[in-house]
Amino acid sequence: MNPLRVNLRIACLLFIGLSGGCQNSFMPGPEAENSYAYEQNTRLGRGVNIGNALEAPVEGQWGVRIKPEYLVQIRQAGFNSIRLPVRWDAHALTYPPYTIDTVFIHRVDEILAQAMKLGLRVIINMHHYDAMVMNPGAEKNRFLALWRQIAEHYATYTDWLYFELLNEPCCNITSEEWNTLVSEAITVIRDARAERTLIVGLTNGGGTDGLGALHLPRGVANIIVTFHYYSPFVFTHQGAEWIPGAESWKNVTWEGTAVERDRITEDFQRTAFFALEQHLPVNLGEYGAYGKAPYDSRVTWTKTVTTEALRQGMSMHYWEFCAGFGLYDTISGSFRKELMDAVLK
Ligand code: GLC
Repeated sequence: MNPLRVNLRIACLLFIGLSGGCQNSFMPGPEAENSYAYEQNTRLGRGVNIGNALEAPVEGQWGVRIKPEYLVQIRQAGFNSIRLPVRWDAHALTYPPYTIDTVFIHRVDEILAQAMKLGLRVIINMHHYDAMVMNPGAEKNRFLALWRQIAEHYATYTDWLYFELLNEPCCNITSEEWNTLVSEAITVIRDARAERTLIVGLTNGGGTDGLGALHLPRGVANIIVTFHYYSPFVFTHQGAEWIPGAESWKNVTWEGTAVERDRITEDFQRTAFFALEQHLPVNLGEYGAYGKAPYDSRVTWTKTVTTEALRQGMSMHYWEFCAGFGLYDTISGSFRKELMDAVLK
C-alpha cells in the first residue's frame, strides 16, 4: 500500500479519535473513485423518514396518509431530503412477471413530484419485504424484478432520487447472500440508469452489528452505506407494541451521562472507521426514540445522536415524521419544537 495513503489514513483515524470527526476533505486519494457518492451524500444532508405511510400494507392503515402540506412543512423547516419507506411487494404480482400495480406506483410518482417541486431529495427503499428476508432464495427473482420495474419507471429522474436496496436486511439473509444480491441489484438498476446513486444497508438488521460483512463488487462507485441507530434499544423502543417484551420496558431514561455518550461516540467512530476503509460515505437512515419514552430523554438522546452523525460527516434521517416517533403532531398541525431542535439545530 502507498505510504502516503497509509499516513493519511492514520492521520484521519487519529483525527476521528481525537475530535470524533473526519470530514470528507480528509479522505485520501483513492476515495476519489467514490467522490460523487460523497457529494450526493452531502446533498442529502438532514432529513426525515415519512414512516408508517407507504410501508403499511395499505397507505393510511397505520394512521398516516401523506398530505402535500407535510412535504411543504418539512421543506420549510429546513430539511434537505426525505426517506420514503415503500412496501412494494404488497402491490405487485406474486408470480412472473411480478408486475407492480399501476395505481400504487402512480401514488409514489405523485409524492415524488411534490418533493421535486419543493427541492427535496428523496430516497425510496424497499421496506417490510418480509418474504424476502425470510426466504431470500425463493424470493430473489421477484426482488430483482421489482427493482427492474422501479428503475425503468424512474429512469429519467435525475440525481435527486436515490434508491435504497432493502430496509434492514435480516433474518435468513446471510452476509454472503446479501453481498451477491447487492451486486445483482446494482446491475439491474444501473441497466436502466447508470448514474443512479444507490444506498446499501447492513445485514443483521441494519445496525452496526453488520459492519465489516458488507463487500461491494469491485469497481462499483456511487454507493452510500446506510445504518440504523436505536441504541440503547430498551430506551428507544420502550413500550413499542411491535417488539415482543417491550411493553414491560417503562420509564427508561437517557440522561446523557458521560458513559451513555461515550457508548454512542464509540459506535459512530466504529462506523466511520469501517466506512473510511471501504471508501464509503455514510447515511444514518433511521434514528429516533418512541413516543412512550420520557420526552426530555428523547430530546437529549436525539440531540446527541444528531451531533455524532454531524461530526462524522454523515447524512441522516430521523425516524419518523408524524407517527409514534413523530417530529410532527398532526392534531395541532405543528412540529414538536424541542425534538425538532434536536434534529435540526
Ligand atoms: C424499522 C422498522 C419500522 C419500525 C422502525 C422502528 O424501520 O422497519 O417498521 O417502526 O424500525 O422500530
